[in-house]
Amino acid sequence: MKSLIIANWKMNPSTEKEARELFETVKRGVKGVKNAEVVICPPFVYLPLFSGLTLGAQNVFFRIKGAFTGEVSALMLKDLKVKYVIVGHSEARFHLKETDETINRKIKSVLDAGLMPILCVGENKGEEKQNVIERQVAEALKGVPLNQAKNIVIAYEPVWAIGTGKNCSVEETMVSVLTIKKVISKLYKRELAEKIKVLYGGSVDGKNSGSYMKGAGVSGLLVGGNSLNAKDFIKIVKSVGFTRSDNF
Ligand code: PGA
Repeated sequence: MKSLIIANWKMNPSTEKEARELFETVKRGVKGVKNAEVVICPPFVYLPLFSGLTLGAQNVFFRIKGAFTGEVSALMLKDLKVKYVIVGHSEARFHLKETDETINRKIKSVLDAGLMPILCVGENKGEEKQNVIERQVAEALKGVPLNQAKNIVIAYEPVWAIGTGKNCSVEETMVSVLTIKKVISKLYKRELAEKIKVLYGGSVDGKNSGSYMKGAGVSGLLVGGNSLNAKDFIKIVKSVGFTRSDNF
């Protein structure tokens, strides 16, 4: 199965010119990578500019159309050939005051549109991580049927590791991955828990990326800061996805 390497550009870069340059450089750099799906999640406004790599959005509204000033729907994203949508990122939980309930509605809206949500979960510093993960996963998936749940990707992103340079240890990440899979198994069935893709995110760089893929039981990585430098991001992709030339 292909690993999933996701670039979360957040609110960067500031101009269309820089966005195009970054996208095209990454596209060239990851050409020939066989066993990783590379997903770029730029700000909404840049989505229509890009093709040639899988696209993801960084957020979505939970209603499909209507009088919701400033919002973007899952159908609009689908029309732009977006495949994945990040939902419940800790920055949206914090700055936009997203709750487990709104996140649940967003997950359903994304799934109903036929897109794949990337649900972000993770504890703040000082919080008991098992409880937080169990609650966030269970609440986000409330009422989601099994045939839709198979399209969900879950990213374990401890809040204290995001943008801090303090990445979570491989061992601790493994514990969180198992906790997530346990919840999925309880809510649905073991087969889904085995299949569901769980990613790690939080200060991933070209040095630590390979170790997560080898030792933490993850199916991929969610990369923030280090996805804004094409060279760094390409290095991360290549650390997990070998190229055609490596193979022959
Ligand atoms: P970071 O961000 O790689 O800059 O820590 C990850 C994320 O927020 O998804």
